[in-house]
Amino acid sequence: MDVKIAVLASGRGSNFKALLDEISAGRCHAKVTVLITNNPDAKAIEIAKSNKIPVEIAERQNFGSRDEMDLRIKELLDKYNTELVVLAGYMLILKGKPLLEAYQNRIINIHPALLPSFPGVDAQKQAFEAGARVSGVTIHFVDASLDGGPIIYQEEVDISDCKSAAEVSAKLLKVEHKAYAKVVDSFSRGHYAVEGGRAKFIPRVK
Ligand code: GRF
Repeated sequence: MDVKIAVLASGRGSNFKALLDEISAGRCHAKVTVLITNNPDAKAIEIAKSNKIPVEIAERQNFGSRDEMDLRIKELLDKYNTELVVLAGYMLILKGKPLLEAYQNRIINIHPALLPSFPGVDAQKQAFEAGARVSGVTIHFVDASLDGGPIIYQEEVDISDCKSAAEVSAKLLKVEHKAYAKVVDSFSRGHYAVEGGRAKFIPRVK
């Protein structure tokens, strides 16, 4: 059964595109019902349009507060009967309580490092500059913290051969593109129970 997902993106949207490719290839059982963005210039918009996916824009400047903005995002998610919210390079932290409560354990994010190491922006640069030999990719549930929600999936990547932060980013991005689709697909087969900060996959009984 396809899981109905809403994608939130602010930028180039390569994870969004990779997800659509994996869906088309039959490896990810999901349907993207809407792209929501805070950035009217996001490249992700073109990707949505060429795939006939509706686009909704919620720009910060059009709301009095972040809470109001997140409330609008919640309304949009409800409107598209969203089952899973997939953050793919969405550059704002979701803060609105009604949104986080209504979609608790149904919002996921991908982060280009092994959390809790290197949270926040420029994680690849942080890892490179720290001289880390190993970094990786984390997919986690979103809560009000910065990259701090329960971890669903992690994959290690050897970055000891990388000569710049840009090389680290490129190496991790390839892994992100496959990993995110795998995790999204898992939601078509079950759900995650979160207990004591740990997420455990519970397959659906057929
Ligand atoms: C990715 O590195 C992702 O891990 C991070 O933001 C970046 C988004 O890239 N959260 P893209 O827009 O999917 O190309």
